Amino acid sequence: MADGSSFYVTTPIFYVNDVPHIGHAYTEVATDVLARWHRQAGDDTWMLTGTDEHGQKILRTATANGVTPQEWADRLVSSAWLPLLQTVNIANDDFIRTTEPRHEENVQRFLQKLYDDGHIYTGEYEGHYCVGCEEYKQDADLVPGTGEYAGQEVCAIHSKPVELLQEKNYFFRMSAFTQRLLTLYEERPDFVQPESARNEVVSFVRQGLDDLSISRSTFDWGVKVPWDDSHVVYVWFDALLNYITAVGYGVDEEEFARRWPAHHIVGKDILRFHAVIWPAMLMAAGLDVPRGVFGHGWLLVGGEKMSKSKLTGIMPEHITDTFGSDAFRYYFLSAISFGSDGSFSWEDLSARYHAELANGFGNLASRIITMIERYCDGSVPSVAVLTDADAAISALEKTVTDASWQAINRCAIHEAIAAVWELVNALNGYLTTEQPWMLAKNPENRARLETVLAVAYHGLGTLAVLLSPILPTAAAKLWSALGAAGLVQEQRIDRAYQWSVGTRVAQLAGLFPRIEAVE
Ligand code: MSP
Repeated sequence: MADGSSFYVTTPIFYVNDVPHIGHAYTEVATDVLARWHRQAGDDTWMLTGTDEHGQKILRTATANGVTPQEWADRLVSSAWLPLLQTVNIANDDFIRTTEPRHEENVQRFLQKLYDDGHIYTGEYEGHYCVGCEEYKQDADLVPGTGEYAGQEVCAIHSKPVELLQEKNYFFRMSAFTQRLLTLYEERPDFVQPESARNEVVSFVRQGLDDLSISRSTFDWGVKVPWDDSHVVYVWFDALLNYITAVGYGVDEEEFARRWPAHHIVGKDILRFHAVIWPAMLMAAGLDVPRGVFGHGWLLVGGEKMSKSKLTGIMPEHITDTFGSDAFRYYFLSAISFGSDGSFSWEDLSARYHAELANGFGNLASRIITMIERYCDGSVPSVAVLTDADAAISALEKTVTDASWQAINRCAIHEAIAAVWELVNALNGYLTTEQPWMLAKNPENRARLETVLAVAYHGLGTLAVLLSPILPTAAAKLWSALGAAGLVQEQRIDRAYQWSVGTRVAQLAGLFPRIEAVE
């Protein structure tokens, strides 16, 4: 990539029954970093996020709060879900709500096409439904309840009892796509990532797929089935379609051709919907399947998936109010290898903030800028004779630029950050060995002093470019302190080491101030 090709990336759309916690913000931030990185590499990038507003879960919450589901959704979107994007600094290109006409009308269009083409039939279903998951559960998905639910079978994800439902529904002949899906996983081994997620999906589909119940008639909060308005579309069938209704499916062929197919970033709990049901739906409609589905891990608290319903939810602003949005983004994406679960603790966050952001990077930046101000009157110095140590820094700038971009192309965000951090550490080591403050004491060392500061200055600019998808606020501040032209997010990240140096530095306020006490 990085040749102007299309990079369309999506987050899951979030249920509006409750406010966001840091698990939701994690999905947003990871997707945003991928989007910002690709955008800065010159790809034709589009990032979509949004909200999932239909279904029983939202209906029940709204009813319990004495408002209509639409009022409830409007309230939560404006008071919680849109503000989340500011809280963690998301640069999304679009935000879709499943109650918007652009979505609802094209869900109906899609469904009608499947119906006309014989992929849908009427049937009867009885099963255990988890409203938390909005999904019928197999016996294997249930576990014995504990506490108030002891003696009952509960959903393994929500730890709450399931409900026995029996309904006459419309069904999607998903079973007919079992073999085509297996061929897809075989031919495109990176369709589902990481490897562990792929294995889980493949062994699930190998057992053979059932048909999928795609309508409900016991409540009416959803998109009406176009040929039978006594039914509404099953909320997952409706929700998955957001990925195409948002980019012109059914109405704007040009836009659709430009964007689709997408890369989907999802939590591992909703992998099957994206890697099994969704491609089967697309195959039935004769559309391209996604470019890939990446299932990330969970943020754990006390060893369990953090969730509001289990009262372990931590709000993103609890972290950003103290540490800032850059630190939030950096911490979760560097400390957890993307694809694995990770535990959150305030101690770990605070320790990494101080060691890596405040001391490692922030201090490095302010030391270099301050020395150029002090020893060169703020004029950006130029290099004279290069030593091996100087050349090693320049070589590393190129190495980490390439390595981080390659890691991003594999969605290995933590590896990309680790590669960039090699340069942070190398520059710190370089200053320790070259000791420009000692060189400054003797005018005979003038040429060497300027070379050292010029090399350090150049490395710092490369860092600003490479870190701008992760630390957009700090990178922008650093970029103006470097006196570089334009905006840092406009610099080509796949050629970060080729940035054009400025002529004068400007004062740099502390990028990551020390934080004394964290509760
Ligand atoms: N509405 C569906 C998705 C429909 S996509 C067509 C949904 N919504 S959700 O609000 O429950 O979850 C949205 C995302 O947040 C999922 O990717 C989920 O994995 C993620 N997370 C929720 N809790 C999480 C953690 N504790 N840790 C990490 N991610 C978590 O599912």
